[in-house]
Amino acid sequence: MAENNKNASAGNIPAKPKPAVPGAAKPAAPVAAKPATPVASKPAPPVASKPAPAQSGVYKPPVDRPNQNPYKDSRLSPLGAWFQERFYVVLPVIDYLKKKEVPKHRLSFWYYFGGLALFFFIVQILTGLLLLQYYKPTESEAFASFVFIQKEIPFGWLLRQIHAWSANLMALMAFIHMFSTFFMKSYRKPRELMWVSGFILLVLTLGFGFTGYLLPWNELAFFATQVGTETPKVAPGGALLVSILRGGEDVSGETLTRMFSMHVVLLPGLILLLLSAHLALVQILGTSAPIGYKESGLIKGYEKFFPTFLAKDGIGWLIGFALLVYLAVVYPWGIGVKADALSPAPLGIKPEWYFWAEFQMLKDLKFEGGELVAIVLLTIGGLVWAAVPFLDRRASQEQKSPIFTFLGLAVLAFLLINTYRVYLEYGW
Ligand code: HEM
Repeated sequence: MAENNKNASAGNIPAKPKPAVPGAAKPAAPVAAKPATPVASKPAPPVASKPAPAQSGVYKPPVDRPNQNPYKDSRLSPLGAWFQERFYVVLPVIDYLKKKEVPKHRLSFWYYFGGLALFFFIVQILTGLLLLQYYKPTESEAFASFVFIQKEIPFGWLLRQIHAWSANLMALMAFIHMFSTFFMKSYRKPRELMWVSGFILLVLTLGFGFTGYLLPWNELAFFATQVGTETPKVAPGGALLVSILRGGEDVSGETLTRMFSMHVVLLPGLILLLLSAHLALVQILGTSAPIGYKESGLIKGYEKFFPTFLAKDGIGWLIGFALLVYLAVVYPWGIGVKADALSPAPLGIKPEWYFWAEFQMLKDLKFEGGELVAIVLLTIGGLVWAAVPFLDRRASQEQKSPIFTFLGLAVLAFLLINTYRVYLEYGW
């Protein structure tokens, strides 16, 4: 199961106290209820001077460290030494990273997509902060400020294009990462919460796309948001949700303010929280290998997370960055025409590609009550998908679970086929 998990569990679960042994340099701390009694008939052989671990519930890093700051005498530059003296408490974390190992096997390639999603998220934060310096989130100024960024600000066009492309690549990487962890059954015990936190991260990522779409305040975004925020109305309580999202009956300048505040404050705050939990779990529980790989000798070895895997991640990030710049320069996104609530909706209104599958499903169920059926099915489907680690009992016992593999294939087919159908009808 957890290939490199030995260290992690060793660090978390305090070991059982050894009985006090005559001859031991440091006897174990007495256990309150039953004091340790020397065994009279068969004296135990003397043991080397290894101190028994303290029995407390306090987290103990997986590194035995009798000296509080064993680094204080190491050779460092004066500046390095200055920091080390003050921050030696974080050194166990570095030790931990150095101990973490990533299994090498024929599917290891898929381990890079989580890191790539993280990379594109960092790009979003940086470019978003810069765009914020010029963007004006009001009905009258939003579109003009976009044109200004694109045409007047030095490299403003590049900034905007990178932000738009990186949003798409982040969503794509999150999808690839989700399906690769699904098919490798990385969600199995004890990684259930990695899956659940990842699922919420995907929902937040899609929320970023949805709220960001309206910000240029162009015609396409305006009417797509109109359609997108209309759909939940058919569900019970949906009308309230719609009026909260829109800030009124219709899509208006109020909606823009709400989408903007969600896009730059609420969602980044939530995603940072979830991401911290997700990445902390990755470090604590380590990287898993597919079921049965270890037993069948399919693991070719292990590589250190720090620095080997991280360096390879870095190469992936460089390739990701090159791709981003290429797409931004060669395939720029248009600005469109300014939204006008009074003009008729143009033909071909569609959401962004990562909502196409659901969009197509809504179109397919165009009978009386069909929208509600679609919403109920999608909600139940999403909840089942989020709960997969708790439902797949076989995988949590390290046994293959073909039924869940089939479920994953069915979900993937639904997404791909419906997305392709929208592409055929509307084009890109
Ligand atoms: C913003 C989106 C996300 C980011 C930035 C992210 C980041 C990461 C990173 C860096 C790793 C460690 C390296 C790796 O195995 O790829 C990881 C592992 C993992 N992630 Fe995510 N993730 C995201 C979304 C998701 C989603 C949508 C899911 C599933 C619903 C998910 C489930 C997992 C699982 C189960 C692991 C453990 C893999 C293993 O132990 O083998 N993540 N994630």
